Amino acid sequence: MPATVLIGAQWGDEGKGRVADWLAADSDIVARYAGGDNAGHTVYVGTQVYKMHLIPSGILHDHVVCVLGNGMVINPVNLVREIDELKSAGVNITPERLIISMRAHIITPAHIALDAASEKARGDQKIGTTLRGIGPAYLDKTGRQGLRAGQMADSETFADALHAHIKLANVKLGREDALDPQIHALAYLEAAETLKPYLRDTTEYMHFRLKSGARVLCEGAQGTMLDIDHGDYPFVTSSSPTVGGVMVGLGFGARYVGRVIGVGKAYSTRVGSGPMPTELEGAIADRLRGTGTNFWDEFGTTTGRPRRCGWLDTVVLRYAAAVNGFDELVLTKLDILSGFDEIQVAVAYDVNGSRRDFLPATLLEYGAAKPIYETMRGWSEDVSGVRNWSDLPPAAQAYIDRVAELCETPINTVSVGPEREQLVHRT
Ligand code: GDP
Ligand code: IMO
Ligand code: MG
Repeated sequence: MPATVLIGAQWGDEGKGRVADWLAADSDIVARYAGGDNAGHTVYVGTQVYKMHLIPSGILHDHVVCVLGNGMVINPVNLVREIDELKSAGVNITPERLIISMRAHIITPAHIALDAASEKARGDQKIGTTLRGIGPAYLDKTGRQGLRAGQMADSETFADALHAHIKLANVKLGREDALDPQIHALAYLEAAETLKPYLRDTTEYMHFRLKSGARVLCEGAQGTMLDIDHGDYPFVTSSSPTVGGVMVGLGFGARYVGRVIGVGKAYSTRVGSGPMPTELEGAIADRLRGTGTNFWDEFGTTTGRPRRCGWLDTVVLRYAAAVNGFDELVLTKLDILSGFDEIQVAVAYDVNGSRRDFLPATLLEYGAAKPIYETMRGWSEDVSGVRNWSDLPPAAQAYIDRVAELCETPINTVSVGPEREQLVHRT
């Protein structure tokens, strides 16, 4: 049975975790295929807020097996911490429920130091990374100098490889004594011991489960605009969060890619540097962002940084739909738009005097893009309690329908709050 794929349609933080939690109820396997603990996926169940960085959101459903695919970069220390935190919140995590690809790459303390050094060296041009060592880990992977998770299975050779890797990083850092290989490797070697039972050939596992009809959900991290190829390079992450990344990052063919679902927020946010044509400053942005008192306010799950906020950009959504071939789009955080008299939607860009309906390919042009807005009527009603499509205010329905039209993709599900139940399906 082909897998369902969930992909961020903007710059990340679209609410993929909460949507994955909904779809996981009817899945046997939930798999991450790209990225690492730069991701922060929040799921709210009952009175408990869970924050996942490496572990798929499916872990909150007892019947689901979670897979960390070969396309990921995994920090063993942070993974062990996340397992422990979820366990102490009552989540059942065993090597039967969580499996780690032996082909996934490992993030080391050296990668974290190199991430910080690279950001510092870029000065004003910094990417605004999460400082989790993501870029350097993928750089080592493509440079064929990386450490793979499978190496953790043999403690002795893993220790040697990690020590040698840290020594090499010291050369790159330009200081032989930057990191002490023995001291800095210690916690990683300990974590590697803990993770041994979770290691597996997930390619083989996925192959047999898909062949035998398992219901698989692939939980994207980051978003289309952060994709190494399709995002606004260089202000992107170092992996492929888009649909192509699924096959590379889990090791199965296109025939097993089924429904592709985009997740988009009802407005735009971005954390980190780079162009954002609809970015606002002032009262509207402050209102979209919130003050940080609610866990769903626009402050990064991973870094706590305030997110840049602005009106919805349907050029971005249309582009994401094209790049990923969305079958449908789930629109989240509709509740946050309640109370605006008018809502603006970017329908195209003006780039140096010419109208552009498709996302410009170069940073020079994208940086110059000014939004061309369409003004829509707002609604005053609180929609967080709405469960039937017909109970959504007419102006909210008109907004959803116009967005669907502009991004050439049906919208059949909207989220009106962070809780499991706060979803509205078109009937
Ligand atoms: P992800 O990285 O795409 O999984 O998104 P994050 O978890 O980083 O950020 C989304 C935030 O919005 C989380 O705090 C969610 O609990 C919250 N959230 C998701 N959907 C909704 C919604 O419809 N309304 C509100 N108010 N919050 C939501
Ligand atoms: P989820 O899965 C939002 C951004 C960083 C930075 C750029 C590169 O929660 O949607 P990196 O550390 O990956 O080298 O940083 O990418 N970024 C995210 N922004 N949500 C994420 O994940 C992100 N993961 C990376 O802010 O701009
Ligand atoms: Mg997030």
